This record gives sequence, structure tokens and C-alpha cells, in this order.
Amino acid sequence: MEACLLFIAPYVPTPLPVVRHMLILAQLKPGEVFFDLGAGDGRTVIMAAKEFGARAVGIELREDLAKRALGTVYEEGLQDRVTIVNGDMFNVDLSSADVVFLYLTTSANEKIKPKLEAELKPGARVVSHDYEIVGWRPFKVENVCENPKLGYPSHTIYLYKKV
Ligand SMILES: C[S@@+](CC[C@H](N)C(=O)[O-])C[C@H]1O[C@@H](n2cnc3c(N)ncnc32)[C@H](O)[C@@H]1O
Repeated sequence: MEACLLFIAPYVPTPLPVVRHMLILAQLKPGEVFFDLGAGDGRTVIMAAKEFGARAVGIELREDLAKRALGTVYEEGLQDRVTIVNGDMFNVDLSSADVVFLYLTTSANEKIKPKLEAELKPGARVVSHDYEIVGWRPFKVENVCENPKLGYPSHTIYLYKKV
């Protein structure tokens, strides 16, 4: 039987303080192109555009989540800077990306790795929540506390740079 490559990770949102930390770590700059592969409710692309001035593209396979993300984009008036694509991340051209955001799984990262290697331009950064990209050497690894007062829950962020 053939493996189904389409849905490679379940929907679990990244907490907003962790998203912010990841975008700071990736040094996302105004005007840069940001992609979230598996964008969920659109929180990362909205923050990338609203707080960091990026041009952001969210790719989400689930129609309900893509619709929700698009609704928020319009509510926030960000439609000139944020694009939501209801589709498969394997069908998207990543050659314009400056920063790619991943919150998938280790095995899903393994599936998307050849596409990242083939399409990303030198200098592009990949920032991954909790799951490393096996075989790539991270530029930085940081642990972030979602609630610093409590000291937990903890999240690990992996930052990679394409050479
Ligand atoms: C762990 S969630 C991350 C959501 C968001 N990036 C965040 O950090 O809040 C992974 C998302 O990837 C989506 N997904 C899974 N396979 C996909 C594919 N082949 N193409 C696009 N999205 C996909 C899921 O529907 C889910 O919303």
C-alpha cells in the first residue's frame, strides 16, 4: 500500500509568545518573505506581518483552518501583506522565502527536507518548533518557557540557515 503524504502533521497551535520568540530568533525583518508550512489558524503569518512587517504566506491543507485564518486576515486588514493558500505544502514554490516556519513532527520534517534543500535560497532561515530536522546542523537551539513565572511548559526552538 502507498503511504499517504498529504496530511503530515495534526493541528496543534504554537502559543503566541513562542511564535514571537521564534520570529525574533529568526531575525525576521520588514519586507522579508515568510512562509508557514501548515499554517493552522494563521497566527504565525498574522504576527509576522503585523508585528514584524513581513510579507507572509500561510499554507494550510485543512479547509476549515484556512478559512478561519483568512477570516482573521481580513478582520485585521492584512490582506495586502498576508496570503493564505488552502493547499498542500508540497505543491508550493519556496524559492522566494527568507524565513520558513515549521511546527510539524520529526518524520514530517524528514519528508519536507528535500524540498527545502532544493528550493531555499542561500541565507534563508528555517525555524522549527519542538522538532529538529535530522541531519541538518542547527545554527541555534533555544528552550522557551511559555509561562516564565511558572517555568513551564517548555518549548524547544531549532533555527537553521541555508548556506
Ligand atoms: C502542528 S500544526 C501547526 C499550526 C501552526 N503552524 C502553528 O504553529 O500554530 C500543523 C498544521 O499542518 C497542517 N498540515 C498537515 N499536512 C499538511 C500539508 N501537506 N500541507 C499543508 N498543511 C498541512 C495541519 O492541518 C496543521 O494545521
